[in-house]
Formats: sequence, structure tokens, C-alpha cells
Amino acid sequence: MANVLIIDDEWSILESLEMFLNEKGHTAFKAATGEEGYRLFCSVGPDMVFLDIRLPDLNGLDVLERIKIKMPTAKVTMMTAFHDMETTIKAMKMGAYDYIHKPLDVDEVEKSLGRALHLAEIDKDTPLIEEAGEAPEAGLIIGKSRKIMEIFKMIGLLCQNRATVLIQGETGTGKELIARVIHRNSLYREEPLITVDCGALVETLLESELFGHESGAFTGAVRTKKGKIELAGTGTLFLDEIGELPMSLQGKLLGFLQRREYMRVGGQETLKSRCRIIAATNRDLQDQCRKGLLREDLYFRLKVVSIHVPPLRERISDIPDLVNHFIQKINLEMGTRVTKLESGVIEHLMAQDWIGNVREMENVLVEALVKANGEVLLLEDILGIISRKPSARVQQNSSCALDAMEREHIQNVLEKLGWNRTRTARALGISLPTLRSKIRKYSIQPMLTDGVRKAG
Ligand SMILES: Nc1ncnc2c1ncn2[C@@H]1O[C@H](COP(=O)(O)OP(=O)(O)OP(=O)(O)O)[C@@H](O)[C@H]1O
Ligand SMILES: [Mg+2]
Repeated sequence: MANVLIIDDEWSILESLEMFLNEKGHTAFKAATGEEGYRLFCSVGPDMVFLDIRLPDLNGLDVLERIKIKMPTAKVTMMTAFHDMETTIKAMKMGAYDYIHKPLDVDEVEKSLGRALHLAEIDKDTPLIEEAGEAPEAGLIIGKSRKIMEIFKMIGLLCQNRATVLIQGETGTGKELIARVIHRNSLYREEPLITVDCGALVETLLESELFGHESGAFTGAVRTKKGKIELAGTGTLFLDEIGELPMSLQGKLLGFLQRREYMRVGGQETLKSRCRIIAATNRDLQDQCRKGLLREDLYFRLKVVSIHVPPLRERISDIPDLVNHFIQKINLEMGTRVTKLESGVIEHLMAQDWIGNVREMENVLVEALVKANGEVLLLEDILGIISRKPSARVQQNSSCALDAMEREHIQNVLEKLGWNRTRTARALGISLPTLRSKIRKYSIQPMLTDGVRKAG
């Protein structure tokens, strides 16, 4: 049973909290001023503290500061009124672990107490996340599973040549990351890496984006503009979302891949390029070919070397390392300070489907760490977030129901328009970036059913 210190100048609060605590079998220590509270803290060394923000002598924040200096792991819950919001935020920044509202609500008190005691226990013995020290190297592919090792081996080979590479895998599996790593480890790493998102622009713009244009080639083409192929020089041209490449451009790209020559839009001059091509897609390109959405000859030109990135659920042995990596990264980037995991967290993460793969897991961790507000990431922090993922089987509240509806609607339109994002965005009346972010947010994937896809 725990020792709990209550610091408040309101007698009724001291009394009622004490009663509540005694009922639960805990021992309460009461102080009506800041000074007295701090003295008691030092002599008792309580398992947790309920601390009022407004005290007659000291400010609650001063007391909090002293307590945290004395014992950095002390669990202090602030008791705040609604107009204390700013002070509350300050308190949380200073290391208070929780706050509850006044007038007190028994459920809130109990929850905060339960969490604090649970945390205090975990503090005693939990495996530590490796201390980061410095930022984990950006662009590092984490994982030791057999499947990832095979990809490492392939990357090693690819770094010594300029062969065209096709990277296929579900959304969020790390295709772009792999493309970057190939470039960064290649002999021409000092040359540019230029990315073209083949799904982001309407056909005509995409064409001039890729090949460039001469002045006067079309309305608005005021001066000559270099295309991305030209900008890539002898570096890498990364054709992302290649499965979205409009039919009209597929022939042009094929011509370029065959001859390594092209012309700017509206141009006469034949230009040459030696850039390395890496293409990526989350679509099943073979299936796209069957459905007549992708030229087969282009497909074969692209997959000189092909890398299949397996979904996260097929390499769950990578999850512990990934979690460790992301926690260090998030701590550094977001200023969170999680260093411990409650047992069961990793197991739980390993049991998920992760339809959005590594990206989805990273997003869950970001949210969980921000909510953890302390050194320990609890299982319940994770459970709460995972249970309202779009892929979750149970939708919990109305905002989730709305999300689910939106997700379904977007998916339907995407399917109907053959996953042409530009047209889908137009049909939905939203911008393309908004559509893309929603596809990511909801981890929308092409349906696997063999439904007929109409291009219109
Ligand atoms: N093995 C890994 N190690 C470390 N970080 C990873 C790994 N795989 C993916 N990530 C991270 O997950 C996120 C998503 O990866 P990335 O953007 O490369 O996915 P993608 O396959 O291109 O997804 P999409 O198909 O949606 O474009 C990135 O932040 C990336 O750094
Ligand atoms: Mg990508």
C-alpha cells in the first residue's frame, strides 16, 4: 500500500482525499502550506503527491520545482481549476506527471493514483531503451530480419552499378528510404538525387516536370525550364508512385529508358542522360499490366532489378529494433523523454497488422510518447491509440465513425477512378496534397478483390 502526500490549503479537499485514500488502503499525509508540504515530502518520501496550484505561502510550481530537484522521479499530480490552464501547462513541462481538475472527480483521482503507483513500480525494474546520446543516423534502415538482410545485400550490389531498380511494397514499408540509401552509398553519391512524384501532377505538367520545356511550349511556359531528368545529371532520378504514371507518358518514359535520349516539351534538340533510375510503387504492377493500366514493356524496362519490401507484419522480429530507434528519434525531435517500456508493449506492437507498416507504427509511437508524459511508455498509452486506428476492428466513438465513413468514401472513389489520385481529388473536391495525406492517414490500400476498374 502506498504513502500519498496531499498539499492543499482547502480543508475539505484534504479530508475528502484522505478518506478516499484510506478506503483504498493507502496512507495519507496532509499539508496545508507549501513549506509544510515540502518538509513532509522530504521526511516521508511518498509514492505520490497531490499538489494544489494555489497555496497561501508558496506557488504550487515552486513546490513542484523543489520536489523534482529533491527527487526527479517523484510522481506529482497537480490539482487545478479551469482558469489555471497556463500554470498547468507550465507544471507539466516542469515534470508534473499528471493533473486533475477541481472540483475533484473520484474517477480522475483514482486513475491518476493508479497510474502513478504503477509507474513507481515500473521505475524499480524495467528494461531501458538504449540511451541515444546523439541523433540516430537519418536514413538508416533498421532491421535484422532475414528479409531485410536480403535487401541489404541487394543494396550492396546495387551501389556498385547504375542498374534500373524497381522497389515494390505496401505503403509505409520504407521504399523511399531504400532509394535514398542506394543513392547515398553509390559511387555517384555526390551527384543529385531528384524525386518525381508521378501521381502528384496532371499529365501535361508532369511531362514538363520530367522532360523540361522550351519557352513558348505552352501558355505559361515563359522561359526554358530544365526537367527533372536533366537536373538529376549523373545522379539518381527517383520516380515515386510510378504506378500512377498516366498512360500518355508511359510511352515517352519508355522511349527515354530505351534510348536514354529525350526532348524537352516544345523542343527540337535531343538531350542525353546517364542518370540512374529508381522507381517505387505500392501497387501490384503486374496486376496493373493485366488490367491495361500499365504498359508491359515499360514494366519490364523498370524491373531490371526488383526489390520487394515485405510488409512489417511479415518481419515482426524487426519491431523491437524499430521501436528503439523511433523512440530515440522522437525523444530528440519532440523533446519527449521516454526511456522505459512497460513489459508487454513490444509484444503488443508485434501483434498488430500494421496496414500502414513502418510509417503507421512510427505515427502511433509519436502520439504515445507525447501522451506518456514521463519516462515510461505504458501499455495503456499504446492500447488507447491502437484501438482507434482506422484499421482497428472496433470503432469506438463518433469521430472514429466519421473517420471510417470518410475512409470508405475515399476508397470507393479511388477504386472507381482506377486509383488516379488527380482525378479522385477533383471528384472529391479536395486538393491533391489533402487527398494524399488522407490516404496516408487512413492507410488506404488498393482493394485486392478482382473488381473491374473503370478508367472514368
Ligand atoms: N527499416 C526502417 N528503418 C527505419 N525507418 C524506416 C524503415 N522503414 C521505414 N522507415 C520510416 O518509415 C517512414 C515511411 O517510409 P517511406 O516513406 O520510405 O515509405 P514508402 O514505402 O515510400 O511509403 P509510401 O508507399 O506510402 O510512399 C519513413 O519515415 C521512414 O524513414
Ligand atoms: Mg514513398
